[in-house]
Amino acid sequence: MEKKPFITLEQAQRIIEDVPTPFHIYDEKGIRENARRVNKAFAWNKGFKEYFAVKATPNPYLLQILKEEGCGVDCSSYTELLMSEACGFKGDDIMFSSNDTPVEDMQKACELGAQINLDDLTMVDFLDRVASVPETICCRFNPGGLFSLGNDIMDNPGDAKYGMTEEQMIQAYKQLMAKGAKHFGIHSFLASNTVTNEYYPMLAGILFRLAVRLKEATGAHISFINLSGGVGIDYRPEQPCNDIMAIGEGVRRQFEEILVPAGMGDIAIYTEMGRFMLGPYGHLVTTVLHEKHIQKEYIGVDACAANLMRPAMYGSYHHITVLGKEGAPCDHKYDVTGGLCENNDKFAVDRMLPKIDIGDILVIHDTGAHGFSMGYNYNGKLRSAEVLLKEDGTHQLIRRAETPEDYFATFDFTPFFKDTFKK
Ligand SMILES: Cc1ncc(COP(=O)(O)O)c(C=O)c1O
Repeated sequence: MEKKPFITLEQAQRIIEDVPTPFHIYDEKGIRENARRVNKAFAWNKGFKEYFAVKATPNPYLLQILKEEGCGVDCSSYTELLMSEACGFKGDDIMFSSNDTPVEDMQKACELGAQINLDDLTMVDFLDRVASVPETICCRFNPGGLFSLGNDIMDNPGDAKYGMTEEQMIQAYKQLMAKGAKHFGIHSFLASNTVTNEYYPMLAGILFRLAVRLKEATGAHISFINLSGGVGIDYRPEQPCNDIMAIGEGVRRQFEEILVPAGMGDIAIYTEMGRFMLGPYGHLVTTVLHEKHIQKEYIGVDACAANLMRPAMYGSYHHITVLGKEGAPCDHKYDVTGGLCENNDKFAVDRMLPKIDIGDILVIHDTGAHGFSMGYNYNGKLRSAEVLLKEDGTHQLIRRAETPEDYFATFDFTPFFKDTFKK
């Protein structure tokens, strides 16, 4: 499908007068409409709840929007728990899906009354030791082997560090019951960025059958099944687009086929999506600083991999629009680069684009999830601002850009920077 930015050149120019590039911008209207579609797709399930994966886009303004749309949060760390607490999430609104969990993280999750998702059998005793076993508790499942859809291998759970085997799930449930747990959840994440409507239904089938077996083996009451994240987005224009209504319907069919006949029709379905909730509703906006003509044609922009790591890290495709040149022929081949001293700091390689001039504003698409959040400070580069494009067309700064003072803040105990940054 053709990829159109959600801002025009004129809008971008207005925002840049207020917030210089580079910045990530998020589309409130798109986020709300998508969240409503997700809730509609699973409305057949009484207890359905999407727990937005905070790691994808940890910004309190965005969490607030999702909260207003009925979402909870999935946290993986102490600071994500703190941010969620500050946004007013508590108790059942929070799913704590961590691994290799530090004591203080687990204690904070318990203090907030979050639903705890245990990544390993050894976490049962750990939880009991550092906090206490709650009435409702979840365990993460790893089936091992390869996860395939038809002939396509989607991922390799056998090589993944997460979750427990079925035998360990049974043991964990029994131990947890002995320690007072009454209601149980099952969680699993088997493949990332899946662009097929079959992933969730297939995963649901596996987890629903597991739920029936776990109930038979332990007598436990299973109250929810968390399909976690993994629903992908079409980063490339030619890719198919996931249809959340078809996905919800596919999960419903498995539910009717497996859980209802087993007398387990009261199970709530949870999801923990990040990418599907926000990915398409974020752009990285950046200005062209330089052009360079050597063996190849290079366009240097004011953003770099520290603002969006996916292309450098995974070789991921992110579509690029040159604002104001949307209709122009893509007859120039460019590498679009940032300024890191790393040759993989390229947002695009051999990309056909309209002729680009210095000062042009580029939109890098689909940066709303796992974009800003994966940022880092290599080469002393500073993290960018984040901006919200509100439903009424106005914009709001929702995170300021880092300053050198922020970069040096962790030296505040040293004599070196005392005078330099004295206020
Ligand atoms: C435990 C857990 N839940 C949810 C997510 C969100 O995944 P996605 O953004 O692919 O939906 C992740 C991503 O890493 C995760 O590790």
